[in-house]
Amino acid sequence: GIDLGKLLAKTGMVTLDPGFVNTASCSSSITYIDGDAGILRYRGYPIEQLAERSNFIEVSYLLIYGELPTQAQVEDFSQKISRHTLLHEDLKRFFDGFPRDAHPMPVLSSAVSALSTFYQDSLNPFDDHQVEMSTIRLLAKLPTIAAYAYKKSVGQPFLYPDNSLGLVENFLRMTFGFPAEPYDLDPDLVRALDLLFILHADHEQNCSTSTVRLVGSSEANLFASISAGINALFGPLHGGANSAVLEMLEKIRQEGGDVEAFVRKVKNKEDGVRLMGFGHRVYKNYDPRAAIIKKTADEILGKLGGDDQLLDIAKKLEETALADDYFVERKLYPNVDFYTGLIYRAMGFPTRMFTVLFALGRLPGWIAHWREMMKDPATKIGRPRQLYVGPASRDFVAIDER
Ligand code: ACO
Repeated sequence: GIDLGKLLAKTGMVTLDPGFVNTASCSSSITYIDGDAGILRYRGYPIEQLAERSNFIEVSYLLIYGELPTQAQVEDFSQKISRHTLLHEDLKRFFDGFPRDAHPMPVLSSAVSALSTFYQDSLNPFDDHQVEMSTIRLLAKLPTIAAYAYKKSVGQPFLYPDNSLGLVENFLRMTFGFPAEPYDLDPDLVRALDLLFILHADHEQNCSTSTVRLVGSSEANLFASISAGINALFGPLHGGANSAVLEMLEKIRQEGGDVEAFVRKVKNKEDGVRLMGFGHRVYKNYDPRAAIIKKTADEILGKLGGDDQLLDIAKKLEETALADDYFVERKLYPNVDFYTGLIYRAMGFPTRMFTVLFALGRLPGWIAHWREMMKDPATKIGRPRQLYVGPASRDFVAIDER
């Protein structure tokens, strides 16, 4: 019943664009997406080539500094990260305070937020040295924080990082290993997790990255901005979708594995049920990341011993949806999350850790965007306008007269 034309005339010329479907908030030279063609490139390099030939450390360097590193540069970068993996003993004590059944995402964002208290030489977003140190500290410490969030949830002792190991290896050992016991790293597992991190590393102005930019636009430091990004990622329509997919697959199995019945429910929008892991704001074609994962899912799950029943349900769901007018008309295709949950589970991660893994992968992208924004002379504090639709001016009424 609202006359938007009249409202706009009153407010002056503003665009009303809920969800920023068609509004660019910045210019950026980090990631290119062509949603209709299903193209994704980091700094110009196609995601397919990076997935096949690069690794997560190299991709992190590429996103943050703009170019692929030389051998010397990548060694220096890795060494710096290795030297900062430890958590301050006082920060470790935070984990004692959280309830054992705490969801690991708010644990992650709280610990990252607390980094500002431990590293007060990080509070000036325009000091290049401080920003560099904060970048390294985040890349180094987030895997340790994530592993401790997991250890806490299963009641197992924390492991100190082993700095002779690479980032992904170290994270896996701290997550699944035990103190004073050797941990055999499975190279297939390492490679698979590294690949998933590459695929998640950036995706231009998604909800969490826009959040990092918005918070950073007030000149908040890197830790505060990334902590906010982690909280944005927590939601089921964003990073939480990978857990939601697995819960959906489990539910379909429990209810007898009737995929067609589930798809009917989605189409009828019964109880607001959506096909989780399908659809994307930008991709109106197959998500290129999902295509890479699908190609490797069989192989990885074969090696790691995945849940074949759930994989079968997922494949049947995809097949049914892609042949159905509802999904075709709306250009709904599988997104990156559709198959990742199955792989994470085969790796041994509980469902609640899936979004944490997304955060570990997305971290270099968040950092790259924050740094790009801080150096961009066109940056202004983020402050959207609104169209006011509440009551017009009215007089205050005393409490006994209401
Ligand atoms: N299942 C069923 N219907 C869907 C789905 C879905 N997964 N996604 C969109 N639709 C329908 C909507 O109901 C709507 O139909 P309508 O016009 O008849 O009402 C139409 O498609 C357009 O959907 P919107 O919600 O307007 O699309 P939007 O761009 O706002 O949403 C989003 C994108 C949030 C990703 C959505 O597709 C969704 O909820 N997907 C499921 C959650 C998910 O997988 N999220 C992960 C995203 S990727 C990531 O974060 C890495």
